[in-house]
Amino acid sequence: MCGIVGHLGPQNSVELVLEGLKRLEYRGYDSAGVSFIDERDVLQNYKKSGKLENLIGFLGEGPFVARSCIGHTRWATHGEVNDTNSHPHSNDQLSMVHNGIIENAPALKSELSSEGFEFKSQTDTEVFLGLMTINLKKGMSFREAVTASFNKVEGNSAFVLIDPDTSDIYAVKRCAPLVCGINEGQSEVLVSSDPYALAGLVDKLYFPEDEVVCHLSSGNKNLLNFYELDGSKTTRYLSKIQDLSAAVSDKGDFDHYMHKEIHEQPELIRSLTHYYFAGEGVPALEKAIKEKPENIHLVACGTAYYAGLVIKDHIEKLNRIHCHAELGSEFRYKNPILGKKDLGLFISQSGETADTLAAQSLCKTNNLKTMSIVNVDGSTLFRDCDSNLLIRAGVEVGVASTKAFTQQVLTGMIYSAAMNGILDNPDRKKDMAAKFSLLAERVDKILSEENKIESIASEIHNYKGYFYTGRGVYYPIALEGALKLKEIAYVHAEGYASGELKHGPIALIDEEMVNVALVGPELYDKTISNIQEIKARKGIIVTIGPRGDEHLKEISDHFIELDFDGLDELSPLYVNIVDQLLAYFIAKFKGTDIDKPRNLAKSVTVE
Ligand code: M6R
Repeated sequence: MCGIVGHLGPQNSVELVLEGLKRLEYRGYDSAGVSFIDERDVLQNYKKSGKLENLIGFLGEGPFVARSCIGHTRWATHGEVNDTNSHPHSNDQLSMVHNGIIENAPALKSELSSEGFEFKSQTDTEVFLGLMTINLKKGMSFREAVTASFNKVEGNSAFVLIDPDTSDIYAVKRCAPLVCGINEGQSEVLVSSDPYALAGLVDKLYFPEDEVVCHLSSGNKNLLNFYELDGSKTTRYLSKIQDLSAAVSDKGDFDHYMHKEIHEQPELIRSLTHYYFAGEGVPALEKAIKEKPENIHLVACGTAYYAGLVIKDHIEKLNRIHCHAELGSEFRYKNPILGKKDLGLFISQSGETADTLAAQSLCKTNNLKTMSIVNVDGSTLFRDCDSNLLIRAGVEVGVASTKAFTQQVLTGMIYSAAMNGILDNPDRKKDMAAKFSLLAERVDKILSEENKIESIASEIHNYKGYFYTGRGVYYPIALEGALKLKEIAYVHAEGYASGELKHGPIALIDEEMVNVALVGPELYDKTISNIQEIKARKGIIVTIGPRGDEHLKEISDHFIELDFDGLDELSPLYVNIVDQLLAYFIAKFKGTDIDKPRNLAKSVTVE
């Protein structure tokens, strides 16, 4: 949720931290702030509510000379969005930033207040500042104070702190993302909540395990040291050489990342096909299908969950293995029935979603094998699972997930096909590869004609509400289409199984409601009857359906024609790309902040 970046080294720390924060701003944009030790060795703290550009404007013309700096972009959990609640929180003894939630903050607040600590903000974070301040006053060293304070707080969090006496930076976390990195040549050391912020700046990444204190220091012969909470040195971290420089992306000629990411899909489909059918992904796929599970517990959140529903359908149809699709936030608390030979399968773009990670950990504790379908190589989910299938979508910056959905579904289908032996049969494998390539071709075509979808969006963007309906494999697509529209266009949209409307929601249909009807070749007649029921109640019908279908054209107010021939089980993905474009253009006509929709963050690392 919140983005954290820290830097220590001879280069200008403030500039590097701001550069890192720019890359992470899509993770939270309620406020931004930096703390640094200036050239007179004085701790400076600047923070501003709103987007990072507000902070940059407030800082004015640099350069700010500093060789140690921490920075933060906030997604507010405790306390409204204002300057005081923004991070860093600081006093003359330290400055600190935080990502996560301190669950026992109320109790600690009263304790600290009775010890004389005065709170300025409404945040839970300031509790940690209070604990640190009191522990330092007791004469503890900075690292001892970090450990003692961390031992008192409950919940999942990452903390990064700067010590004004030494300029050193300390970091520690529990079930929250944190990564350190070293640039040996420049004698620089960095820390962040996301490796993406460190791309191109470090040669080596270090992923600390939970409850490991990371000490970033320039005065030490090692720039980076790791300690257990009892003060002993530790090797509980994973080090990795990872060149992420290619991952740093810009919008190119597009107005928004979301639009650019929708357009990347044909190429990504092609490269994923090669990766798993003949390329470097083959060993990971072989590992993934080594043991055939009795049942699959497929767990994810949001868009990744809807991708999971499509995958579930594919696995069950092809492999006849019972596949339970579950929301991460529900699964973790429902005491699920888990068999010893079952598989926990987790789908995530970021690999850092708190509820998905908690579900993975629950499966692991119950001795299940766990596997991920994930985008971010090296993410917590990737590291914690027994096997991983990367979706290779590249960095997804737009908060609304688009290309990740397509790649998740395709990777899940490849897994399902491999489990069925399809990839061991040259003819069937060839057929499947041909379908993937056909999908890429059809998506290319849709994208080249997107102005047709834009013109429909211009006519329907001001209605009261939107029902996305579909049956069978198009039902998850209806859910995903509605989610996309509501999150970026701020209008009420609901996804429904077409046959369910008459069980209640049809009461809402009138001339101010739009029905986006998804009609593929499957269950065609049934779906048409459902459209008629809405039309009879004066709803506006936008149909996405087979090309040349005169009947559909006649009953629809707007008709988006698609060529389904030969796509078979990939058809839902094809329809979904139209949904993505429709949501994008409706939001554009409404003038919303498409890449950073209000109240959202790219990666949901709190419960
Ligand atoms: O990183 P994850 O795939 O685990 O994220 C899951 C959801 O938070 C995410 O898909 C969210 O629903 C998107 N904003 C949807 O566009």
